Amino acid sequence: MSQQNKLPKHIAIVMDGNGRWAKKRYMPRLVGHKKGVETARKIIRCCSNLGIECLTLFAFSSENWKRPKEEVNGLMSLFISALEREAQALLRNQVKLKFIGDISHLPEKLQTAIADVEALTTECTGMTLLIAANYGGRWDIMQSVQKIVEKVQLGELQANNINENTIADYLSTHAVPQLDLFIRTGGEIRVSNFLLWQLAYAELYFSKSYWPDFSEDRLMEAIADYSNRQRRFGKTGEQLVLNQSSGEK
Ligand code: IPE
Ligand code: IPE
Ligand code: MG
Repeated sequence: MSQQNKLPKHIAIVMDGNGRWAKKRYMPRLVGHKKGVETARKIIRCCSNLGIECLTLFAFSSENWKRPKEEVNGLMSLFISALEREAQALLRNQVKLKFIGDISHLPEKLQTAIADVEALTTECTGMTLLIAANYGGRWDIMQSVQKIVEKVQLGELQANNINENTIADYLSTHAVPQLDLFIRTGGEIRVSNFLLWQLAYAELYFSKSYWPDFSEDRLMEAIADYSNRQRRFGKTGEQLVLNQSSGEK
C-alpha cells in the first residue's frame, strides 16, 4: 500500500456543535450533549472495526469549566452514565480506554467510574480510546516539563540530554502512535487548545456537521480525504515519488 492510501493510525476528534444542534431544535443544550454521546458510541465502534490503532476524543476542555454550572454538572453526570453503560461493550470489543487530562479535578464519582473502566479494559488488545477530559494542550506540555524537571532534580536526567523525544515521552499520548488525522466538527476552524504538540504534522479536516449529525459516512469521507493527501514532512513531492518507486515505506 502506498503512503497515500494508508489508513490513519491515530485519529483525534474535537466533537463540537452539540449546543447548536440542540438550539436549532429549540431544545436544551444538554439534549445535544446526550445525542453527542450516541454519535461518539457509533464513531468508536466504526474506528475499532476499521482497525484504527488509536482514537482520541475531546470530551471536555480545561476551558469548559467556564460554562454555566448546570451544563457542566449535566456533562459530568452524562460522562458517568455513559461509562457505566458502555464498560462491558468496550471490553467485548477489546477497546482499551484511557482518560487524558487533569483527572484529579473531576468529580470523585466520575474519577471512580474512570478508574473502574480503565482497570476493566487495561488488558484489551484492540483499539486504544483516549478520552480527553479537563484536557488542555498547554497543560499537557506543562505536565511533561514538570516530570522532566523532577528527573533532572533527582539526577536521573541531564539537562543537555533533553530533546524533542523526551518531551513527547512524558505527554499524555506517549503510549500511542503519532497523530495522523485531526477532525473538528461543528464548523469552527480552530484547535481550541487540543493536542498542541501532537498536531505538528497531523492532517487537519474540518466538517460543517454538528457532532450529533456526524456519522460513519462522514467519518469515511474524512478518512478518504486523508488517504488522498501527500504527507511530505518537509521533503519535496518528487523525493516521495522517488522513495516510493524504490520501495521505501
Ligand atoms: C461540544 O459541543 C461539546 C463540549 C464542549 C462539551 P458544544 O457544547 O461546544 O456545542 P456548540 O459549539 O455550543 O454548538
Ligand atoms: C472544544 O470545543 C472542546 C470540546 C469539544 C470538548 P469548544 O466549543 O469548547 O471550543 P470553543 O470554545 O468554541 O473554541
Ligand atoms: Mg463548541
